[in-house]
Amino acid sequence: MNSPVMQGLNLNTPAYVKHAKLVAWVAEMAALCKPESIYWCDGSQEEYDRLCAELVSAGTFKKLNPAKRPGSFLACSDPSDVARVEDRTYICSAKKEDAGPTNNWMEPAEMRATLRPLFDGCMAGRTMYVVPFSMGPLGSHISHIGIELTDSAYVAVNQKLMTRMGRAVFDVLGADGEFVPCMHTVGAPLAAGQKDSTSWPCNPTTKYIVHYPATREIWSYGSGYGGNALLGKKCFALRIASNMGREQGWMAEHMLILGVTNPEGKKYHVAAAFPSACGKTNFSMLVPPQGFDGWKVTTIGDDIAWIKPHADGKMYAINPEAGYFGVAPGTNFHTNPNCMASLDKNVIYTNVALTDDGDVWWEGMEKDTGKLPDHLIDWQGKDWTPQIAKETGAKAAHPNARFTVAAINNPALDPAWDDPAGVPIDAFMFGGRRSTTVPLVTEARNWTEGVYMAATMGSETTAAAVGTQGVVRRDPFAMLPFCGYNMSDYFQHWLDIGAKAQTAGHKLPGMFCVNWFRKGDDGKFVWPGYGENMRVLKWMIDRLEGKAAGQDTMFGVAPLYAEITWKGLDFSADQFKTVTSIDKAAWIDELKLHSSHFEQLAYHLPQALLETKTALQTRLATL
Ligand code: OXD
Ligand code: MN
Repeated sequence: MNSPVMQGLNLNTPAYVKHAKLVAWVAEMAALCKPESIYWCDGSQEEYDRLCAELVSAGTFKKLNPAKRPGSFLACSDPSDVARVEDRTYICSAKKEDAGPTNNWMEPAEMRATLRPLFDGCMAGRTMYVVPFSMGPLGSHISHIGIELTDSAYVAVNQKLMTRMGRAVFDVLGADGEFVPCMHTVGAPLAAGQKDSTSWPCNPTTKYIVHYPATREIWSYGSGYGGNALLGKKCFALRIASNMGREQGWMAEHMLILGVTNPEGKKYHVAAAFPSACGKTNFSMLVPPQGFDGWKVTTIGDDIAWIKPHADGKMYAINPEAGYFGVAPGTNFHTNPNCMASLDKNVIYTNVALTDDGDVWWEGMEKDTGKLPDHLIDWQGKDWTPQIAKETGAKAAHPNARFTVAAINNPALDPAWDDPAGVPIDAFMFGGRRSTTVPLVTEARNWTEGVYMAATMGSETTAAAVGTQGVVRRDPFAMLPFCGYNMSDYFQHWLDIGAKAQTAGHKLPGMFCVNWFRKGDDGKFVWPGYGENMRVLKWMIDRLEGKAAGQDTMFGVAPLYAEITWKGLDFSADQFKTVTSIDKAAWIDELKLHSSHFEQLAYHLPQALLETKTALQTRLATL
């Protein structure tokens, strides 16, 4: 392919790129964004090392002490650019109803007219990186390809860890393969000869994270952080892919995927939806506790699952990502030893604190060492001491500080994590963060009840999104910020997938609702969580195997105390009651909240969900 020169700018198209439409798109976007140069990423280690070295020179990266964290870097963002910006995230479908009441919407032509002037010249003085990536194993029938154009080298190197990124993607694309075009700019053009005045360029006032479902395009302006900028993740693998899945009969879900193998060697696969920063990474890397000799949990994915029903009647899931962009604070050898082991080397840290010996630190690490460090440089570059923290409440790491690490660093990585065929799902789990009302675990009596449980999930929120901390919100399927179309149509899609499988005579995966977060009268969590969640997982498997009868409750089938394996844990029947009891008064209120939730989602809300609510009300009345 020749390499056209536009207005003095060489496209630099590598000879191995054979896709004329793609090259034309890059040329068109370059003409719009007016970068100083264009660089096509090949995904090589040499390239990664070089870009990281450039980021060190630019001051964006600090190289960490190689004796402590080999191959690792620390980036600290602009204090205004620390999380996904949900209020600036748009689904631009032709009709507002198709985006639904839970998404921001703007008419596509109006949004294009808004973005065009912003993108005009937005990359001036910068390099435009062409970042080819595959979401899912290269060439898998479940995978899809994206090309991200970005003016951020930070994004390019993160994409190397988070996706299958590089030259091989072009072999899969060939001359006319499909790709999702992903436009990204930090929105901070430089005048001729001007140097960055900051190590984290972004646009402090204007941000747009825009999706056009009809044309499957993503346009992101103004932020360099996480899901706003690493466009393969939430934008593509959830918002755009949920639209693709709806059209094509599969599911793009905010779910971890794990394998669990019993001592006899029988293996199950579980996909679990939890809202952001509710311990998905921890659960996906769970270490079985005492009393579970011979059991093994392995990670296929920690955040996103693409699930396709197969002709053999099973639902096969892949993790479209190839790395973890996880929340660092709270991670330690108690909460997630496998994660800590993954973070030993070759990690990009963002917004954690720097120790005096060139290592990283975040809140929660003191649980491992038994003490706070005497001195740190916090994520904003300021001195931090335990005394300062006490006086001002200053956090050393931002609560949404992250690590970016390749999946291959994970000692608990499942051997099938990269299998193009995916893994067959035996059970779905849906878990909110609720201090009251919702029991530890119940199994839905049927698919529709499972969809109901997931559709009404609620959660007390965290720092993963700007401006929502501490608020309780309904988060159906943990997809509230990620569903790329009308939420009630998404519920219908789940019901349709189940109905289709049942009509074909296929056995559906089990559906379980869990809540690790019930609190006692003293305000403390009652369930120990983390590795101990294995006890719940084992009960679920016993249910799948027909070994646990459970007991019928108004909200599904719950375990009897005697059905949980307690070996190695001192947890009394009374404590069990505290985390499993159904409080009639609380559920009367809860169902009222379900009603108002459903009122908000009234457009296209499946009748089957309203009927399920009526059935739950009837059961509740008999308690
Ligand atoms: C994430 C999120 O980063 O859900 O995974 O916010
Ligand atoms: Mn997530």
